Amino acid sequence: MSERRLVLGIESSCDETAAAVVQDGRRVLSNVVASQNELHAEYRGVVPEIASRAHAERIGTVMRASLKQAGVEPADLAAVAVGHRPGLIGSLLVGVSAAKAAAWGLGVPLVGVDHVRAHLYAGVLHEVAADGAAEPDLSGSALGLVVSGGHTAFYKVESWQRITRLGGTIDDAIGEAYDKVAAMLNLPFPGGPVVDRLAADGDEKRFAFPISRLDKASLNLSYSGLKTAVLYTLRGVPDAEDRPAMEINPRNIADLCASFQRAAVAAVILKLERALDQHPGVRTLLTGGGVTANSRLRRELTALGERRGVRVLLPRMAYCVDNGAMIAGLGHRLLSERGWQGDPLSLAAQPSGTPETIP
Ligand code: KG4
Ligand code: ZN
Repeated sequence: MSERRLVLGIESSCDETAAAVVQDGRRVLSNVVASQNELHAEYRGVVPEIASRAHAERIGTVMRASLKQAGVEPADLAAVAVGHRPGLIGSLLVGVSAAKAAAWGLGVPLVGVDHVRAHLYAGVLHEVAADGAAEPDLSGSALGLVVSGGHTAFYKVESWQRITRLGGTIDDAIGEAYDKVAAMLNLPFPGGPVVDRLAADGDEKRFAFPISRLDKASLNLSYSGLKTAVLYTLRGVPDAEDRPAMEINPRNIADLCASFQRAAVAAVILKLERALDQHPGVRTLLTGGGVTANSRLRRELTALGERRGVRVLLPRMAYCVDNGAMIAGLGHRLLSERGWQGDPLSLAAQPSGTPETIP
C-alpha cells in the first residue's frame, strides 16, 4: 500500500477516551488513550453516567493530542473513523458526535466502525518505527478471537466486511470474570492485570477449578460456574464443614489467582482447538481485546499456533485494550473497499451487539 492516507480514529464505547492517527491502515503515528480507571475504581466497575461525562470533557483534548503527537495538521486527514457500536450509549454518542463534527468541518468521509471487529484488526497494526509483519491471509477463512471486559467470542473472518460469530460466552465475558474475582479479593480495578501479575507466583494446581466445556460440539462457553467456584473457595461453602473459608494471605491469594487463570484460559484454548477441528482449512487466527494482554493467554495462544500450524496475530500490548488506532485502521480498510464512500452524517450510535453476519 502506498496511498499515504491518514485516518483519525476515535473510540469512546466504554471508559477509555481514545484517538489515534494511522497511515495507510497499519502504521500508527499516534495512539492517545485517556483511561478513566481512577473515576470508576471506587465502584469496582464502569458507571455509565460518569463515563459519558468524562468522555465529553476529554474528547477534544485527546483528539488534539493525537494530531500533535502524529505531527499532522487537521487538513492532512483523509477521513475520520469512529467506533459507533456496540457499547454504552452515552459513551458512544460522545465519540460519534465528535467524529461527525470533525468530518463535516474538514469535508472528509466519516466511517462507523464496529468495536468488536476493530479488536480483531488490532494485531495488524504496527508503530512507525517498526516494520510491519505480512498482511494476514484471510482467503482460507481466518478465525478470530475477541476476549475483553464485554466480549468473549469466536469468529469466522472471510474478509474485513464479512465476519460471522461462531460462538462465545453465554454469561460473563472472560475480562468480567477476572474483574469480579479481583473484586472478591479486594484488589484494585480493573482486576485483570493485577490477577495476571499475582498468578505468576502462585501454584496453578492448588485449586481444581472447573473448565467450562458446555456441549462438546458447540463453541459456546461459560464463566459463571468458575466465578462461583472461586467464591466458594474464598468464602467457604455454607453448612459444609469440610469447605471452610480460605485464609487470606499472600500465598493463598497467589494460588487462587493462578488456579483461576489456568481454568479461565484453558476454556478459551479448548474451544479454539474445537474451532480449528471444525475449520480445517484455517491457517490464520486474529486475536484482540483487553485480555489478549494476559501473559498466560499470550503464551498458550502462541503454543497453540505452533501445535496447529496456524499463524496467530497477537496485538502489541498498546493495542490490546480499547484504543483509537484499531478504529482508524479498520476504518481505512472499510473505506478503501468502498472507494472512500463514507457513511452519512446521520450515522447512529448503536448500543447493541454486532450483527452475526454482514453480507
Ligand atoms: O478491550 P477492553 O479494554 O474493553 C472492553 O472492550 O471490554 O478490555 C478490558 C478488560 C478488563 O476486564 C481488564 O481486566 C482486562 O481487559 N484485562 C486483562 C489484562 N489486561 C486487561 N485481563 C487479564 N489479564 C490481563 N493482563
Ligand atoms: Zn474493547
